[in-house]
Amino acid sequence: MHTEAWIQDAWDAAARKIAARTSRRIGAEFPHGSHDGRYQVTAPSYWTAGFWPGLLWLLYRDGGEPRLKQLAEACEERMDEVLADVGRLDHDMGFMWTLTSLANWQITGSAASARRAMTAASHLAGRFNINGRFIRAWNHPERTGWAIIDCLMNLPLLHWAAKHADDPRFRHIATAHAETAVRHFIRPDGSAHHIVRFDPETGERLGTLGGQGYADGSAWARGAAWAIYGAALSHAHTGRAEFRDASERAAAFFLANLPEDRIPYWDFRLPAAAQEQAPKDSSAAAIAASGLLDLAAAVHGDKQAEYREQATAILRSLTDRYRAGDDEEAILLHGTGNLPMGQNVDRPLIYGDFFYMEALAKLRGHSSFWSPQPQR
Ligand code: GLY
Repeated sequence: MHTEAWIQDAWDAAARKIAARTSRRIGAEFPHGSHDGRYQVTAPSYWTAGFWPGLLWLLYRDGGEPRLKQLAEACEERMDEVLADVGRLDHDMGFMWTLTSLANWQITGSAASARRAMTAASHLAGRFNINGRFIRAWNHPERTGWAIIDCLMNLPLLHWAAKHADDPRFRHIATAHAETAVRHFIRPDGSAHHIVRFDPETGERLGTLGGQGYADGSAWARGAAWAIYGAALSHAHTGRAEFRDASERAAAFFLANLPEDRIPYWDFRLPAAAQEQAPKDSSAAAIAASGLLDLAAAVHGDKQAEYREQATAILRSLTDRYRAGDDEEAILLHGTGNLPMGQNVDRPLIYGDFFYMEALAKLRGHSSFWSPQPQR
């Protein structure tokens, strides 16, 4: 496959930086947002724990440097204490063990990693609310009936488990949650609610919340990106057209509302006064670009070319205008983590770096760890 020179150059430059510099300082820790040029690290129980080992697996799969594999494995082992203490975990087990144990299993066939991924999938399936047909997001008692758009990204772990254990219950749960997300989260215009509240007893939809967005009814940019990518993945795992159509609706909204440089502000529906000083979210752009490449694979002809071109244009803008220099160990500048909480606003974010590299890897012909995999 022919790879345009700038794509190969962008991959090589970032891979060199991570291997020669960032990985030597971070080691087997769990970086999240970068401050003053250095990633700050978090606990192995935090939802972002998988992105650094996932990035290391992307690089190891490409270049085969044993040290990067060892670091990824050390992160995975450090997460064992969390896997054994399920009360510290929420629905983001999918993010966490897809990019550690499932990635390891895909690359090395590790039986220990498959056991970890099955354990995480079982805990995740245990969060399913049968009456509401959703996976419970968080653990706080008043949030028993809350589900969030991000959870679409946790479903591939369940699809993998269904195949690995030859047990369709995992697939049934993933598919039921995806149906709920398409029905209740993705609005007719393609924008997405961050949080939907259900009655945890009856399953009745009670209302929506703005969550990490500007307000209830606004359009949080990263949520819009999770909708594109997550729905495309549900289509890839089930073949059901309604999930592809939902991803297309989310993509149409995202692409139609991008500013001139194709990198969104942190929320697409900010009042004019708030927009003037608003930070961008480069992580939303990277996630959307990677998701658009999967969506391109789900359609044909002009549409396929269009999604691929749009994804490539976003990645080109990230590369030309948002890449960090030598004073920064991260790859991408200008991510926004959680603006309403004042966390990691206008900073590099590890998931921005991960999805940027994942998308470049796709343009170089590789698949992602979230995609359907042949069983071993
Ligand atoms: N919890 C996922 C996010 O912040 O996007």
